[in-house]
Amino acid sequence: MGRIFAVANQKGGVGKTTTAVNLAACVAEAGYSTLLVDLDPQANATVGVGLPKDLTPSIYEVLSGESPTVAAIRASRINNLSVVPSTPGLAGAGVELPQNQDYQHILKAALESVRDQFEFIIIDCPPSLGPLTVNALAAADEVIVPVQSEYYALEGLAGLLETLELVQRELNPSLTVCGLVLTMHDPRTRLSRDVETELRTHFPRLVFDTVIPRNVRIGESPSHGLPVIHHDPHCAGAEAYVALAREVAARV
Ligand SMILES: Nc1ncnc2c1ncn2[C@@H]1O[C@H](COP(=O)(O)OP(=O)(O)O)[C@@H](O)[C@H]1O
Ligand SMILES: [Mg+2]
Repeated sequence: MGRIFAVANQKGGVGKTTTAVNLAACVAEAGYSTLLVDLDPQANATVGVGLPKDLTPSIYEVLSGESPTVAAIRASRINNLSVVPSTPGLAGAGVELPQNQDYQHILKAALESVRDQFEFIIIDCPPSLGPLTVNALAAADEVIVPVQSEYYALEGLAGLLETLELVQRELNPSLTVCGLVLTMHDPRTRLSRDVETELRTHFPRLVFDTVIPRNVRIGESPSHGLPVIHHDPHCAGAEAYVALAREVAARV
């Protein structure tokens, strides 16, 4: 049965989608049957693996009960990597979901039926702690938190960890924090080095050894609809995501 990972942080622009797409691509490349679930109305993960953001059925139809999950699963052009795409219409789900009883568990129920077809299921969360992210955290076995190497990185992290504890208590006792990953790291800057030191001091066991560098190839690969390991397999960004995938696989 596939292990479910949510990539979550309520801050935007910290590298959630980049991490979800590239982690999914790296475990798929390693031979694991992998499903990437795009749970953000921005649909950046969908586009990042080369699919358009107007496919139906999408995750929206799955969550609203209009489509079985299996009908929303698309092949991508990457071996072993399937995708449940998103569309901008998913924004409506933030309002509609809470009208259902037990709405926090709708995604969990939807993934149950396809779980044994995959070894890794990776959910890209939107930049909020709203109903969509709560559904992801209720469905997940593990959460991965990208943390951008910048000045306000730690601000909001305490709030996120409190939310995770609340979810563990109220909705999903088996949820585990798989790890925190530093993204867009630039070791030449004092700021990046300070953020890394501070994060490792506060969360010694949780921070992955692998640090994702700020890397031009990572930034440009979505515009080609490709994960970075397929856009430029030997760049520093690709090597970092391969190393992160190994660490994640070793932690589960
Ligand atoms: N390691 C990196 N190096 C360079 N650019 C990056 C890196 N990680 C993310 N980006 C870019 O930063 C922006 C925000 O990243 P994204 O993954 O979309 O964040 P989020 O999903 O948290 O909003 C995107 O344009 C992305 O391509
Ligand atoms: Mg995103």
